[in-house]
Amino acid sequence: ARRAEEEYDYLFKVVLIGDSGVGKSNLLSRFTRNEFCLESKSTIGVEFATRTLQVSDPSHPAPPLVPSVSPGFFLLRWTFHLDQMIGFWLLLRALLDLFLDRVSRSGNDRSIPILIRWISEFGTLVEGRIIKSQIWDTAGQERYRAITSAYYRGALGAILVYDVTKPITFENVSRWLKELRDHADPNIVIMLIGNKTDLKQLRAVASEDAQSYAETEGLSYIETSALEATNVEQAFQLILAEIY
Ligand code: GTP
Ligand code: MG
Repeated sequence: ARRAEEEYDYLFKVVLIGDSGVGKSNLLSRFTRNEFCLESKSTIGVEFATRTLQVSDPSHPAPPLVPSVSPGFFLLRWTFHLDQMIGFWLLLRALLDLFLDRVSRSGNDRSIPILIRWISEFGTLVEGRIIKSQIWDTAGQERYRAITSAYYRGALGAILVYDVTKPITFENVSRWLKELRDHADPNIVIMLIGNKTDLKQLRAVASEDAQSYAETEGLSYIETSALEATNVEQAFQLILAEIY
């Protein structure tokens, strides 16, 4: 029996982190909407998307995927949960940008930063209990770090993404781990993802290196391609299973 969208027994918050350009937003859009964009823009602050997914326990047949309810509904619901400080800061910045544009009459079409929260939500039915998950996609760019550190609050899981074609993004994994240790709950479940496995000719980080690094740090490890939709569903399901 299907329960109301809003009902749940557990709420899991999972954050996506990693360097800019490694594919966090595309992993999320692949998972939530089965969409991929080759020319996706860098995330500013946080953006918003939602999808509801129900997975039955093994004793019941898997029900079809439930498409998301009206995004507008969630938008309304979640914008009220925006951390006040962040909300104000973003609003002020947007207004300031608008003001400066007017004053300078620069005439160029500088866009006003739109800061919305990107939360993906889905429910998982395990042993008759509905687990509601929120996936938060944050910006990888350094200049937004001050904002996003607040987003670790309450997170039970972290998906740390690097790009298998860019060694620097793998080297920075230790910095992201440090940031998690400084800001997140000490019991947070962390999963390392090597993304862009479709770019076989360009691979520059060996699976074995990442695997052994993950083992020494106590992380689970999986390789994905948001472009080819390889292992994306599995990765999200795996971290939820580990949290549960
Ligand atoms: P920030 O928002 O700046 O932190 O970046 P991000 O981690 O969200 O990266 P994003 O998802 O925007 O992807 C960056 C670029 O990588 C885009 O051009 C994507 O099309 C590309 N990309 C993402 N995933 C893959 C993948 O699996 N394979 C390939 N070939 N390209 C990918
Ligand atoms: Mg992004």
